[in-house]
Amino acid sequence: MNVLVVGGAGYIGSHCVRQLAAAGHRPVVLDNLVYGHRGAVAEGVPFYQANLGDEAAVAQVLKSEGIDIVMHFAAYCYVGESVTDPIKYYLNNAAATYHLLSAMLGVGVRRFVFSSTCATFGVPERLPMSEDLAQAPINPYGQTKLDVENALKALASTGALSFAALRYFNAAGASEDGSIGEDHHPETHLIPLAVDAAVGRRPSIQLFGTDYPTPDGTCLRDYVHVDDLSRAHIAVFDRLAKPGVGLFYNLGTGTPTSNRQVIRAVEQATGRKITVVECPRRPGDPPALYADSAKAQRELGWKPRFPDIDSIVGTAWNWHRSHPNGYGDR
Ligand SMILES: NC(=O)c1ccc[n+]([C@@H]2O[C@H](COP(=O)([O-])OP(=O)(O)OC[C@H]3O[C@@H](n4cnc5c(N)ncnc54)[C@H](O)[C@@H]3O)[C@@H](O)[C@H]2O)c1
Repeated sequence: MNVLVVGGAGYIGSHCVRQLAAAGHRPVVLDNLVYGHRGAVAEGVPFYQANLGDEAAVAQVLKSEGIDIVMHFAAYCYVGESVTDPIKYYLNNAAATYHLLSAMLGVGVRRFVFSSTCATFGVPERLPMSEDLAQAPINPYGQTKLDVENALKALASTGALSFAALRYFNAAGASEDGSIGEDHHPETHLIPLAVDAAVGRRPSIQLFGTDYPTPDGTCLRDYVHVDDLSRAHIAVFDRLAKPGVGLFYNLGTGTPTSNRQVIRAVEQATGRKITVVECPRRPGDPPALYADSAKAQRELGWKPRFPDIDSIVGTAWNWHRSHPNGYGDR
């Protein structure tokens, strides 16, 4: 398949590009590099620096590259910023996506894989979180993703499009060979922050909330390896062959891991002690979020190859150790 990877210079997209090539597909990347890294995309992969909301530019790439399927990773992903500057999120994550879809329909590309998120559920009514739970996002970031899910349902119901919306839990880790990995600016994810604290790039790490109703008082999250997520994207291809298909999958390992457990795993991997500053809870952080991925396992044969936090952190440390300045372009 010729696959357009929108946001393919970002963290998860760049790993998916690698997996696509390894599986014998032909990835093509479109990214405006607002957050991504040119160096995350291998030499030889066609790269277009463009905004996904630019219908003419996107249509041109879809036609000239003979694209069969679009994977859409591009978005702004800072939950706090989405609360203080919501229009930025509605424009980029929702409105620009509608232009991308319009460009696809205009040139007859009808298969779409969308990066959604567990944040569409808000505070879950039940754990572990399966696809049938009520969705009630508690911030504009989650709402923009739910808005796109709803638009996709409407398009599929007309037969114009087939889609899979993949709701990731906490993406983590790096490619096994350590050549690409996580390099967000600013960084808000716990594993890279803990690695930075371990190697002295930051003095300490803040732990928000130590009095949650969880075994060690800190939040529980579900860390899923970025290459496992990538494999799920490819596993849905066959199911999108028919028109009008709409699929939703929650993707996590299903293992709840506490913030303190993550910090311990990073200490173990790096062999260094991390200074932890205990802080009050942050508003809007649910005590526990972890996936029930039985549907993906059953229907896609998807099984995470990195089921535990130690193996995931091991790959992250491998990347950070060999790339202390990330891609070095910021
Ligand atoms: N990282 C996680 O834990 C996580 C969890 C759940 C869902 N997601 C979703 O997965 C996707 C990828 O996340 P990530 O961590 O790789 O993010 P990222 O910021 O590393 O990658 C996003 C990429 O999209 C590009 N981009 C943004 N707006 C664009 C635009 N208008 N036009 C063209 N390119 C644009 C950026 O330059 C960047 O390369 C996002 O949609 C995010 O919401 C991520």
